[in-house]
Amino acid sequence: MPELSWLPFGVGLVLCIAAVWVFFLIYNVIVCSLPRMWIKGWIKRAGMGFCLVLPLVLVIFHGEPWLRPVLTLERFHWIHGALVGVLGVAAVGQALITFRLCRCPRVAAIRSNHTWRAPFQAALRDFDVLRDRKFIRQPRAGTVPEADAEPVPHYRHQILPVKSHTGKLRLTLSPPLKWINQAYDLRVHHFVLALPQLPPAFDGLKVLHLTDGHYGEVLSPKFHRHVLEQGMALEPDLIALTGDFVAGDHLYRQAIDALKELKAPLGVWAVRGNHDFYSEPQIVKYWLEQAGIQVLTNRHVDLERDGQVFRLVGIEHPYVRLRDWTPAVGEPVAPGSPFRLVLAHTPDVVYRLSRLGADLVMCGHTHGGQFRLPLIGPVVYPSLYGRRFDRGFRQIGPTLLYASNGYGLHTFPLRLNCPPEVTLFELRRGSQT
Ligand SMILES: [Fe+2]
Repeated sequence: MPELSWLPFGVGLVLCIAAVWVFFLIYNVIVCSLPRMWIKGWIKRAGMGFCLVLPLVLVIFHGEPWLRPVLTLERFHWIHGALVGVLGVAAVGQALITFRLCRCPRVAAIRSNHTWRAPFQAALRDFDVLRDRKFIRQPRAGTVPEADAEPVPHYRHQILPVKSHTGKLRLTLSPPLKWINQAYDLRVHHFVLALPQLPPAFDGLKVLHLTDGHYGEVLSPKFHRHVLEQGMALEPDLIALTGDFVAGDHLYRQAIDALKELKAPLGVWAVRGNHDFYSEPQIVKYWLEQAGIQVLTNRHVDLERDGQVFRLVGIEHPYVRLRDWTPAVGEPVAPGSPFRLVLAHTPDVVYRLSRLGADLVMCGHTHGGQFRLPLIGPVVYPSLYGRRFDRGFRQIGPTLLYASNGYGLHTFPLRLNCPPEVTLFELRRGSQT
């Protein structure tokens, strides 16, 4: 009877775990953070292919002389050194994240936080609208959608037939996934922030922040209306949209039409996100402007009340590359003056903004991880800084950052331990305790 040894099996398993970890690290930190990713799909397919092929290679060739020393630990091999290095980095990184998740740092600027649930019941029939040819038809280039409107620019992409009742949709709307999926379990956050730099004329300003809608085949189209109703019920003075309006199915007009209900006395302002730039950013901008939503492409506007200035800055870097940041953010007149609220899609720009003295930065992009495991944290974290800015508040020098979970989804219609959100910030002038 041959001697049964679990050692090669155990070493092979550890090798596969390390390969999956490296794939996720490369994909999240590098691939998802690059501004234009024509090569993204190839890297994803190659990485996934390697992770699938590796176990097969280990099983098929485990007795070969070139692989045997690696699996049996007969002698030290460079792969053992690489494995220890990868697992060491993974363990230290995870320990720091777990410590932070357990500690939950206190943010001095938060005066109060009130959160409530506003769940939505999605049904398969909600998606029927995506089968309606009239609804999903692209307008012809050069046509004028409304009187006095600019002609529609040329679309490079045609809408492919939208897969409205896919297997994954049926799966996620059926028990038991339906019960554990938080994709429609909307949370409304109302934060009251104490900001000493806020001009007295803007004391009490209510800013509604919405991000990462990803309009398309993944979420119920009716859910977008539900989100807007919840947001507008908060009676905001100003509305900030931080990008990723569309998904991969080119429903630009439909995505922006879904936002037409948004109205606020100080306007609706937007920056675009990486998914808007992966598709057709000029078309997204066109429809945003048609809907009365003003796009802040690396520029600022000064809102005035009683002679006091509240500066609203929009940063689309790195998707629209910005070399000299000073004109976009504006020169400060005095330290902390004017107050600067920055809208950005990715939190990766926060250190640069902090050096330029931004007071408050609102962003999305990370979706809070979309899937968050207990003590492990987010699985998806598209940031150059890994999971540092996955969600919530962070204080970086003079700058308070808020990274939202967003209300949309991408890739798979599933959220775990990471519900979608609508966020209202009530800005109060006052000292932080
Ligand atoms: Fe997104």
